[in-house]
Amino acid sequence: MKKKELKITISEYNGAEELPAEDKKLLLEAVKSASRSYAPYSEFHVGAAVLLENGKIVCGSNQENAAYPAGLCAERVALFYANSQYPGVAVKALAIAAKADHFVLDKPISPCGTCRQVIAETESRQKSKMKIIMQGETGPVNVTEGIENLLPLTFYEEKLKKK
Ligand code: THU
Repeated sequence: MKKKELKITISEYNGAEELPAEDKKLLLEAVKSASRSYAPYSEFHVGAAVLLENGKIVCGSNQENAAYPAGLCAERVALFYANSQYPGVAVKALAIAAKADHFVLDKPISPCGTCRQVIAETESRQKSKMKIIMQGETGPVNVTEGIENLLPLTFYEEKLKKK
């Protein structure tokens, strides 16, 4: 038996103002998108903005449902929309922001496990990594290159190969 340590790399910026202009712009779109969420149950509003390699920005926000599991996270709304409207166009970056109704979220949000799996599928499909930019309502911004930093030991489709 041997123990292995896996390394992940995250860049932490003190705030959105420190980000390169392109990332700041995308994060601002995610913030705006959070205000379009439908979150009457959690009262927690998440926005996601996807930058495509053709320069287009596609946004999504969490959409909840009285039957709770029927709702969908902002990241999946944005990625599924991007992949369905622009199949074959790679996602360069994904920005995520959140705002809660009853407290100030001063730490970066980071995508749920299912959304991480969807990000992994997108990277695998396009054969390139995306930049993932994460912020709460205020405070530091985390930036990472590629889903392996958020979902080590990722399950990829090659594990399904039958021949
Ligand atoms: N949510 C997202 O949209 N993205 C995340 O990364 C975490 C959670 C949503 C799901 C639900 O509508 C609300 O936030 C509370 O979990």
